[in-house]
Amino acid sequence: MNTRTVSLHILFLFLLLHLIDSLHTLDQNNTMKDGDVLISQARKFALGFFSPGNSSLRYVGIWYYGQLERTVVWVANRENPVNHTSGVLAFDHYGNLVIRDNIGDLPIWSTNISSLTSNNSATAQLLDSGNLVLIHDLSKEVIWQSFDYPTDTFLPSMKLGLDRRTGLNRFLTSWKSEDDPAPGSYSYRFEPTGYPQGFLYKGRAPYYRGGPTIQYPHGVDRAMPHDFNYIIRVVRNATEVSISYSASTISRYVLQEPGSLKYFMWHDEEQRWSEFGHYPKEQCDYYKNCGPNSNCDANTADQLDCTCLPGFEPTSPAEWYLRDGSGGCKRRRGASMCQSGEGFVKVQGVKLPDTSTVHVNISLSLKECEQECLRDCNCTAYSSADKSMGENGCLKWFGDIVDTREFSNLGQDLYVRVDAIDLVLVPSFTARHRKSTLVKKAMVATILVSAVVLLLLGSLIYCLRLKRKRDRNARNHLSRVTTISAYVDKIACLKDLDSEGRRKTDIPVFDFGTIAVATCNFSSANELGHGGFGSVYKGVMNDRTEIAVKRLSKYSGQGNEEFKNEVKLIAKLQHRNLVKILGCCIEEDEKLIIYEYLPNKSLDSLLFDETKRSLLDWGKRYEIAYGVARGLMYLHQDSTLRIIHRDLKVSNVLLDGALNPKISDFGLARICIGDQIEGKTKRVVGTYGYMAPEYALQGQFSIKSDVYSYGVLLLEIITGQRNNGCYHMNPFCNLIGHVWELWGGGKCMEIVDKSIDKTYSEDMVSRCIQIGLLCVQRYASDRPTMSTVVFMLGNADAVLPSPKQPAFIDESAHNGDIQTRCNRACSVNGVTVTVLEGR
Ligand SMILES: *[C@@H]1O[C@H](CO)[C@@H](O)[C@H](O)[C@H]1NC(C)=O
Ligand SMILES: *[C@@H]1O[C@H](CO)[C@@H](O)[C@H](O)[C@H]1NC(C)=O
Ligand SMILES: *[C@@H]1O[C@H](CO)[C@@H](O)[C@H](O)[C@H]1NC(C)=O
Ligand SMILES: *[C@@H]1O[C@H](CO)[C@@H](O)[C@H](O)[C@H]1NC(C)=O
Ligand SMILES: *[C@@H]1O[C@H](CO)[C@@H](O)[C@H](O)[C@H]1NC(C)=O
Ligand SMILES: *[C@@H]1O[C@H](CO)[C@@H](O)[C@H](O)[C@H]1NC(C)=O
Ligand SMILES: *[C@@H]1O[C@H](CO)[C@@H](O)[C@H](O)[C@H]1NC(C)=O
Ligand SMILES: *[C@@H]1O[C@H](CO)[C@@H](O)[C@H](O)[C@H]1NC(C)=O
Repeated sequence: MNTRTVSLHILFLFLLLHLIDSLHTLDQNNTMKDGDVLISQARKFALGFFSPGNSSLRYVGIWYYGQLERTVVWVANRENPVNHTSGVLAFDHYGNLVIRDNIGDLPIWSTNISSLTSNNSATAQLLDSGNLVLIHDLSKEVIWQSFDYPTDTFLPSMKLGLDRRTGLNRFLTSWKSEDDPAPGSYSYRFEPTGYPQGFLYKGRAPYYRGGPTIQYPHGVDRAMPHDFNYIIRVVRNATEVSISYSASTISRYVLQEPGSLKYFMWHDEEQRWSEFGHYPKEQCDYYKNCGPNSNCDANTADQLDCTCLPGFEPTSPAEWYLRDGSGGCKRRRGASMCQSGEGFVKVQGVKLPDTSTVHVNISLSLKECEQECLRDCNCTAYSSADKSMGENGCLKWFGDIVDTREFSNLGQDLYVRVDAIDLVLVPSFTARHRKSTLVKKAMVATILVSAVVLLLLGSLIYCLRLKRKRDRNARNHLSRVTTISAYVDKIACLKDLDSEGRRKTDIPVFDFGTIAVATCNFSSANELGHGGFGSVYKGVMNDRTEIAVKRLSKYSGQGNEEFKNEVKLIAKLQHRNLVKILGCCIEEDEKLIIYEYLPNKSLDSLLFDETKRSLLDWGKRYEIAYGVARGLMYLHQDSTLRIIHRDLKVSNVLLDGALNPKISDFGLARICIGDQIEGKTKRVVGTYGYMAPEYALQGQFSIKSDVYSYGVLLLEIITGQRNNGCYHMNPFCNLIGHVWELWGGGKCMEIVDKSIDKTYSEDMVSRCIQIGLLCVQRYASDRPTMSTVVFMLGNADAVLPSPKQPAFIDESAHNGDIQTRCNRACSVNGVTVTVLEGR
């Protein structure tokens, strides 16, 4: 054999071109050494030894032939690399292809074909599809193929899924890193149970469901060009459950760390790959992002909402209210779901829920499906099988409906079982959309009328029945009627909210005299602080409750009634991370807002205090940052108001007894300046050091200017330094510039407050610094929304983008200007300033 190899090499030297042409098979009589390559017939792919990334270890792999940068699509010895360049690939006596690192030793990798027992001979051939096949020399059958043992890449004509005859399940696993092709923690499988679907797992936990295709399952990608023949083939029969695809351009799916299935296409002219889609893409894509029986709705830019499916109500209303949808929804209390007039509500345009446990019958029409589902009291929902597959079919769900989300243009219709009452109340439910208020009003009206009719009808029936059979069944009907009136109550409340004022939950209006007495006539001894909108005083009421009173120094000048209404609206915003408003007080020119009193004062009194700052360990700081983020997200997203704070800073974050953060002064910009959601103002209110550039320089404010302030706050919490405190070690006069510089040099841990006990995870702190830098990016559009910030803070796995340059750095055009602003800021030192003219 050795002489054969030597002669092969001599031939290789002399007849290089001819040999490359013929080197597309490997047989019993030759050996492939490190450095040799096997090339497919049409020179599409090559097989040989390679070293990935910066590693020096040798692996046998397949890559695209003729591309400048090697893109490996398959690796044989993923876990057992060769330590040096003397590895060989050859056949053993059984006809198995093996890799040896020293001839004679046990192979470090083998095709391990179990059906081969003794003297066999086979030939290996690399096909133009990128598939390495072993063909038995006598039977001419394929006895092994690399496509059956995928690594991280899914190529056209390859199959993922289960071969029922052999039990072979083909799935993708990510590489550990770019330097190490050993299996990483993510896998992508085509699951055969129920109605087959793709699942991306992190370890063993589902991470994302769907993909990798346009149509199947349940439509994922939105951006595929129409002009390239992309065809998906799903086989679901007695011998196999599999998915494969073909495309007219060179393309591949690859499962990368951390947890992303990406689709790439090759640009021939530009000689490069371009990414054409990746999953999961959005927050709603993550598996069970919203709990059971709820729908994840992400259609308003990057806002996130979990909504209960019709007939369901939040399992924990409190968490739901705080926008934590993970608890999901449960069947509305009192709903009777079995043979008592229930039916189905169509939920339009959704990703079909998890189909692992559905019942499938492809021969049924949708109408028959409905009948079948209705007949079975345990059936909770039905839908047609994947319509894009041209299948009518019937899918029936039992138990909880898991992992649905709206899908603006590729979703399907899901029919959810509801009881008789909901059937009337919720005639149709659309997941996408936000209906115009007009439609909403019409809907409310319709619902009201129907509810009243139902109530009357119910009472009528109830009375009649009561007359007839006094004792029997009475209790049943009673609860029925109670349910209906509870609904009517709810609707009445909703209506009340709309028309304002009819409910008796008006905000308390305090008497000015009472407040004056409580605060010792606003004595300076009682003054807690002075901010942009006025002074705050501590007060003690007759019943000894402590209050904080904000005496507004400026007010936009609307009438007293408007002021009251405005305070009332803002008082309705209630969140554990917002200071509670207890009432207001109006007396001629005096406008007061009365808050709960928090004994631990504001965050700055701890954070910037040499002795007290050590009270704030990393865990506490993280909780404070997270709490503030949630409070701010709540302000930004509450659908009734959408408050932009405009003056978020450490001194506006108060701490309660347990050091829980509460944002104060929210809504004051709205009261004092007017209530535009986003806009341009001539009256800039804010604090230097916290103001986003577009706001400070041009007077443009939006939720993104609050995000900027939050970023500054976050960095201050981590570093224990004021942003406007003039950082002397630095050419730029602010903290952000300093953090940015250290970040760029990979030394950001240097800036972390030295008084924090060193027990924190550097990884976590560095993530938080990165999030802070993302928030203070120069362009508002680059900054994340608060819901994204909350998500990034709460999910250690979430991939963070790289921050771009923050504002107020290297702005040569404005440099002098900013310098003076900074200097001024230093002298005001944290006090809110109001500039009356923007530019
Ligand atoms: C390998 O070599 C043996 C003996 O030289 C020869 O009989 C056999 O045909 C060769 N096999 C192949 C596949 O060329
Ligand atoms: C290899 O090392 C160089 C220099 O250390 C680095 O820039 C590059 O990112 C590394 N590549 C990989 C794939 O790790
Ligand atoms: C490579 O082999 C040498 C000895 O042959 C051994 O000392 C070394 O630890 C090996 N390295 C790895 C990474 O296996
Ligand atoms: C081949 O199979 C044997 C027994 O099933 C197993 O122990 C061995 O690890 C396998 N080798 C490779 C390289 O897969
Ligand atoms: C395999 O072939 C060799 C030589 O051709 C022979 O000596 C040996 O007995 C054969 N082994 C089996 C298991 O048939
Ligand atoms: C299942 O589908 C595959 C691919 O189309 C086909 O080769 C196989 O014969 C089918 N099996 C049955 C039992 O129909
Ligand atoms: C599907 O429905 C048809 C018609 O009702 C029935 O004959 C068939 O047995 C069902 N198939 C399955 C797998 O349940
Ligand atoms: C419905 O579910 C309950 C509990 O899981 C079970 O006892 C009952 O048999 C089921 N009914 C039908 C018709 O499947």
